[in-house]
Amino acid sequence: MIQESSKRLVRRFFGNNAESYEKVVSLTTFGRDAYWKDEIIKRIKECNSVLDLACGTGILTFKIAEKFPESKITGVDITKRYLEIAKRKLNPHHKISFLLDDAENLSLDTKFDCITSSYIPKYCNPYILIERCLYHLNPHGRIILHDFTYPKSKPIRLLWNLYFAILQMVGVFVPGWKDVFKDLPKLIRSENWVDKCKGIMERNGMIVEARYLTMDCSAILTGTKKV
Ligand SMILES: C[S@@+](CC[C@H](N)C(=O)[O-])C[C@H]1O[C@@H](n2cnc3c(N)ncnc32)[C@H](O)[C@@H]1O
Repeated sequence: MIQESSKRLVRRFFGNNAESYEKVVSLTTFGRDAYWKDEIIKRIKECNSVLDLACGTGILTFKIAEKFPESKITGVDITKRYLEIAKRKLNPHHKISFLLDDAENLSLDTKFDCITSSYIPKYCNPYILIERCLYHLNPHGRIILHDFTYPKSKPIRLLWNLYFAILQMVGVFVPGWKDVFKDLPKLIRSENWVDKCKGIMERNGMIVEARYLTMDCSAILTGTKKV
């Protein structure tokens, strides 16, 4: 079977649902999305610049700006409609710029103290993603990646699979989300982004901490550059 390319999958998943994204992510994660993003923010040290990859509608980007109002923040996303929604939320006091670009092809002439991303690892080749992050990272910089994970314990897996089976049925009635609710669990089950990204970061001389959250349904990987 020919596997769908990740770029095609991203277009299929996000091409037609930007307007409802924030409501859907909050409802389907039972509000855990906000908690996971707060956990990402907690791991950002004092910094002058932050790159938020796959920023989407900017939920995390604006939270970072709230905590670090003096930092220069750049949000990058590959889906134009998501970025348009993020840009609509900008105020003159924000030091945020949004760029339409592919995180796996990114080549900015700026380096950042911190690189964050919520929900990108499963859509990227881990080697390319980490290589691009390291390219854009300042000495002493930090990479903080977050995404869903497939729980390890059998009873939790049972609940997790049941939940996604229900979501798949509900998805038929939610415009723009049918494909995501159907195919997201397969993608999460097939990925082992935490171990892969952790290994690559460690081989590149980073100190890495993996923290699993909400009964192992998601994880945050924090890598700090040794100097
Ligand atoms: C589930 S949304 C997450 C948005 C945001 N990070 C958040 O947590 O609310 C996933 C986003 O990843 C973006 N994306 C996927 N692959 C990407 C890539 N290679 N480069 C940039 N953005 C990407 C999609 O366009 C989409 O906006």
